[in-house]
Amino acid sequence: MVRIMKLPEETMGRRLSIWLILMGICVTGQAQISFITAFMENPSVSPSTTFQLYLVTYDKEATVKVMVSQPQFMETVFIEKDSSALVTLNYTYMITEKQVTSKAILVESNVDISVFAFSTEPTSADAMSCLPLENLGTEYYISTSGSGTNKQFAVANSLKERVVVIVTVSGSITYNGVQYRKGQSFSVSLGYQQVIQFQSSEDLTATRISATAPVAVFSGQKCFAGVNTSCDTLVEQLYPVQYWGDLFAVFPLLDHTLDSINIVSANPDTVVTIGGQLQSKQYNLQEGSSTRFPLSEMVIINSSQPIMVTYLFQEAKPSLVASYDPFFTTVPPSLATRKFYKFITQNTYYNFLLIVSQAPSPEFYLDQHKLNVYNVSIKELNGFNAWEVSLGKSDGQHEIYHQSMPFTIYVYGIGSHVSYGYSMGQETIYPDAPSIPTPPENSPSQGILHCLSHGAEYHLPKHLLSEANLDVLDVHLEDPQCQAELDGDFVLIKIPFTGCGSNVLDEDDKTYYMNTIYGTIPGTSVHRIEIPVRCEMETKETLDFNFQPKVTDVVSLGHYNVSLKLYETENFTDLVTTYPHKVNLHDSLHVEFKVESDDANLQILVEKCKASPSLGESEQIYYLIQHGCSKDSTLQIHLVTDQRLQRFSFHVFRFDKFPEVYLSCNVIVCHNGTSPNRCTQGCLSSRHRRDARSLKELGSARLSQGPIRITASQPQNPHTVPLSALVVVIGVLGLVSVFGLVLQKYHYKRQEYTLLQNMSH
Ligand SMILES: *[C@@H]1O[C@H](CO)[C@@H](O)[C@H](O)[C@H]1NC(C)=O
Ligand SMILES: *[C@@H]1O[C@H](CO)[C@@H](O)[C@H](O)[C@H]1NC(C)=O
Ligand SMILES: *[C@@H]1O[C@H](CO)[C@@H](O)[C@H](O)[C@H]1NC(C)=O
Ligand SMILES: *[C@@H]1O[C@H](CO)[C@@H](O)[C@H](O)[C@H]1NC(C)=O
Ligand SMILES: *[C@@H]1O[C@H](CO)[C@@H](O)[C@H](O)[C@H]1NC(C)=O
Ligand SMILES: *[C@@H]1O[C@H](CO)[C@@H](O)[C@H](O)[C@H]1NC(C)=O
Ligand SMILES: *[C@@H]1O[C@H](CO)[C@@H](O)[C@H](O)[C@H]1NC(C)=O
Repeated sequence: MVRIMKLPEETMGRRLSIWLILMGICVTGQAQISFITAFMENPSVSPSTTFQLYLVTYDKEATVKVMVSQPQFMETVFIEKDSSALVTLNYTYMITEKQVTSKAILVESNVDISVFAFSTEPTSADAMSCLPLENLGTEYYISTSGSGTNKQFAVANSLKERVVVIVTVSGSITYNGVQYRKGQSFSVSLGYQQVIQFQSSEDLTATRISATAPVAVFSGQKCFAGVNTSCDTLVEQLYPVQYWGDLFAVFPLLDHTLDSINIVSANPDTVVTIGGQLQSKQYNLQEGSSTRFPLSEMVIINSSQPIMVTYLFQEAKPSLVASYDPFFTTVPPSLATRKFYKFITQNTYYNFLLIVSQAPSPEFYLDQHKLNVYNVSIKELNGFNAWEVSLGKSDGQHEIYHQSMPFTIYVYGIGSHVSYGYSMGQETIYPDAPSIPTPPENSPSQGILHCLSHGAEYHLPKHLLSEANLDVLDVHLEDPQCQAELDGDFVLIKIPFTGCGSNVLDEDDKTYYMNTIYGTIPGTSVHRIEIPVRCEMETKETLDFNFQPKVTDVVSLGHYNVSLKLYETENFTDLVTTYPHKVNLHDSLHVEFKVESDDANLQILVEKCKASPSLGESEQIYYLIQHGCSKDSTLQIHLVTDQRLQRFSFHVFRFDKFPEVYLSCNVIVCHNGTSPNRCTQGCLSSRHRRDARSLKELGSARLSQGPIRITASQPQNPHTVPLSALVVVIGVLGLVSVFGLVLQKYHYKRQEYTLLQNMSH
């Protein structure tokens, strides 16, 4: 069944409306999707150590509950469709105990969602994608690193009354005062929503977990010290043996040559072939055995039996930051079948997306843009391609889609002494690729902002420029000297953080760089395009006052009325009834003038229509219509048969520094029995204006309408650190935006799923 999934109009930075209800809520008896996760031990126990759960919705709004039984935690979040919310648990939910605890974190949603977890403190972080209960299994093998202390894993039971877990040790584990060594087993009983975490100084790779019912298993390390890195946490949720694969294309992230791969087998006589361009190797693995090798080049791993492959990102190679830390992720088998993912990035990192596929060409749409719009590096090995996309310090929800070829992804971010990473594609339950209409190649609908370390770059789709009847040279920054240049289907504007009118703002230990891209009608201060650009994130919202001056949109002229109305669409069917009317800077406004009378012999002429930033006297005036003549190049006159109506559309604009626009128009009413009259004359060139006064008219009215508030000048997108841009606009709108972050992950299609379902089928 094909799921129709609409890509969000504002891919990123959309307003997240989150209402947190801290009190009990009546739960609907509908199908549910649930996740069980755990906050494994992180190097530090401090208020800055948190477990962030990102809840991502698809095409339905969701009610999501996040619960821990002891210490008790209960938060219910309503999330709009195509949106996300963040629930943060503090360090009191981190597992520090050496026995069974009730700190397993249960996430229950009434509709499909994805859940991502970040275990984070300022200098130590990692992330994982969470598997729904449906994707859990009863048999797992652990994968950990080979160095440093406190390798750890955790096993969590969700909703079963009791699950017996048998641990067959590889390495050494001490439990209940007894030390178990390689090959020895012990069992642990887990009750409802209970979890146990084990730690060891020895490598626990290939430790086997088997359980009487599906459990969730998490692996990692409290404190991993890589080649040149200090203590950092590693976290990943593992896949059960039943979802392992036998073919893997592994591409080193960020051109690393010293990262490390673990391979674990669950079956006897597993022949694993590792083929790279420089060398190839073969390993014979037995049931419960493993191998580890440095990933010095891209390789294809081919196995005679299903295996688990994990990737430890450990090289401290200076690049965008002088020093970044390790992360740990599973390697999804390359015969994945997913063609659509949502994922999340955080703006405290330089984020990257690595796509691995057998697709021959980059026919991917990342946030509705073709991949070649981005900063992409491409690698190829034996029919597998990898596209590494630099997403900059972007924040929030992204989507990646390919119409025909399946692919797997890695999402990771590097910061100074801190990094995270997770992969997607190994899931077995996911939606069919959505029927997303392929965006026309040459008309990307949004701009793209890349926040780089030295400045930003904004790619504005060329068609937005032509729609506004502007030229490349009309696009500039706060400093008009800083102009745009043409770059394929885009207009590229480079925004240095110093100069060109860029502002630097320091707030709460963060720095914001701000500038604005304008598309200005030459010789005027009227902007048809205005895109606030801002790098780094802000958490505060501002509120603006909200006043509504009197407008005159109906004038009574005795036995008939004359009105000026705005409509949402050029069909003139949806009357705008609430003001301020909010429009996007690259939208159009639709205005109708009407003489409201049953007398079909009446005619109307819009003689003058001007726009100004306020209703009163204004220095800034922009004429749309003057002397009955169109003065604006975007003004579109809609032909109507009824002479009592006149309809116009024009491209939105705004005045420099003013958020609002008012229309004030002068309308003339005539009777067609008097023609030729002023109404039939229409546009008068200056030569004939004197004659106009003598022509008959029934009456005239001055009408005004507004305020029209120019909102987000540009749909937000993931590369924009858009939140901030949005906040700027929202501040003007007087709305409160609650910013919940992100994350993303799986999307699962199910007909019916209940918590009581027997999962051991
Ligand atoms: C941790 O979070 C819980 C639930 O939100 C709260 O009750 C508790 O006071 C917090 N503890 C600390 C130390 O912040
Ligand atoms: C896997 O390896 C075997 C033996 O080397 C080879 O015959 C086969 O073609 C390989 N399969 C793939 C998909 O690379
Ligand atoms: C570790 O740091 C040293 C000194 O800065 C450097 O020469 C070496 O290449 C680094 N090793 C790795 C694996 O990053
Ligand atoms: C593109 O990304 C690479 C790293 O993948 C980086 O070195 C380069 O500076 C980026 N270029 C731009 C223009 O962002
Ligand atoms: C004109 O508008 C007034 C006030 O809205 C209304 O009462 C009146 O009926 C209208 N007259 C006509 C002819 O539509
Ligand atoms: C206008 O009306 C036509 C026909 O009713 C419809 O197909 C179209 O979607 C409408 N357009 C808008 C923008 O509402
Ligand atoms: C005036 O308009 C009405 C309605 O459109 C039409 O029936 C009539 O013929 C017109 N009269 C003149 C003189 O054009």
